[in-house]
Amino acid sequence: MNKMKLGVNIDHVAVLREARQVNDPDILQALYVACENGADQITIHLREDRRHIQDSDVKNIMMFSKLPVNLECSINKEILNIVSELKPHRATLVPEKREEVTTEGGLDVFTYEDEIAYAIEQLHDSIIPVSLFVDPTIEAMEKSKELGAEMVELHTGLFANLFAMLNSSLPHSNHAVKELDFPRHQLSEKLEQAIEQIKLSSIHAKKLGLEVAAGHGLNYHNVHEMMKIEEIVELNIGQSIIARSVFTGLSEAIKEMKKLTTRCINLK
Ligand code: PXP
Repeated sequence: MNKMKLGVNIDHVAVLREARQVNDPDILQALYVACENGADQITIHLREDRRHIQDSDVKNIMMFSKLPVNLECSINKEILNIVSELKPHRATLVPEKREEVTTEGGLDVFTYEDEIAYAIEQLHDSIIPVSLFVDPTIEAMEKSKELGAEMVELHTGLFANLFAMLNSSLPHSNHAVKELDFPRHQLSEKLEQAIEQIKLSSIHAKKLGLEVAAGHGLNYHNVHEMMKIEEIVELNIGQSIIARSVFTGLSEAIKEMKKLTTRCINLK
């Protein structure tokens, strides 16, 4: 049986809270609702700039979560020391830039290979399995394996942007992705290529013995494409679930995503 795990990223609840510097919405309530409504894992990102999740949130979530906690972090030394102490079920190493709105690309496993190898070693010393958030390329899969990771999370940002430029009103909005301003037939081709890249990378990663997750920009409209790739065993989804929860409540938003990410098993 190939079950898809849904990691619900609750960072955005903390974004809303930090906007007013009050304890509302309560991140622990979000944790509880996620645990009760179909999440298989809680994903949070302790950023260097602490723009949403705070150290105390991680501690509390680790203490009260019934589900495994996937803690995203950069390879910054201070953060790695904190993560090593906290001992989450898994650490996902991600690139971080202060000025970015969100994680914009995969880890550069080539330029920073020594730093990443050192980070993996430190986390392994604390018995924390490591996933690397990388772009979907064959070379990145091979390098991730060589560096000693147990898992890769494929960055689906390009796929999600192409999908939205082709299938939504995004091109006509202020948030149009300028680099993807192509005629529709080209967008369509590029989208097919992006999906193929994710598929080939997933197959290769699995062959290398890596577990395969995917995430970034996945939503209720595009997630079916990831469900077709059977090597992917986990999706980490934040923005679209929390955005939908404004209208439906968090329970419904998670249940709906869970429905879309539950694989039907063909009984022969
Ligand atoms: N996975 C990783 C490694 C991420 O950094 C993020 C964004 O924080 C996500 C998944 C979730 O992305 P989104 O909020 O676009 O669903």
